Amino acid sequence: MTLVELVYTSEAASHVTSDDIHQLVEKARIKNRRHGLSGLLIHSAPYFIQLIEGKAEAVIETFNRVQEDARHQNIHMLQLGLIDQRSFPEWDMGLIHAVGDWNLDNKQIDRILRRPSRQVSKGILAIEHFYQQASVVPV
Ligand SMILES: Cc1cc2nc3c(=O)[nH]c(=O)nc-3n(C[C@H](O)[C@H](O)[C@H](O)COP(=O)(O)O)c2cc1C
Repeated sequence: MTLVELVYTSEAASHVTSDDIHQLVEKARIKNRRHGLSGLLIHSAPYFIQLIEGKAEAVIETFNRVQEDARHQNIHMLQLGLIDQRSFPEWDMGLIHAVGDWNLDNKQIDRILRRPSRQVSKGILAIEHFYQQASVVPV
């Protein structure tokens, strides 16, 4: 079975609340389970960064839908490529939601992404790289 991973970043629309994010993830998990997708969504204002993994068709179809979503904008794909195994087989869509004034730093991101059992894919490296860049940009 050909597996791919896709990573993109975007910015949350100004009207999107914490509740909206929890609700969208609840729905996304149901859809992802149905389509055999797994992955991770990080929200640390103002950015979303998401890794979606699974069969190529399902990943692309879902990303096409996600791109049409008015709850975020400035969508940039950072990584799309084949993988040997999933990095997040245990998560239909893990959510890391940094609320309020608290923003994630590189160490916290690494702690989440670098479990000993976790395969470090190009997608994971792309997420880490994004946070290294983002941490020097005032938000
Ligand atoms: C940041 C973000 C991440 C999302 N992630 C997923 C996802 O992983 N899977 C999914 O099915 N929908 C996801 N969605 C929701 C889709 O954009 C879409 O609203 C949802 O799939 C329902 O589509 P439909 O109403 O056309 O069936 C996400 C939306 C946003 C804003």
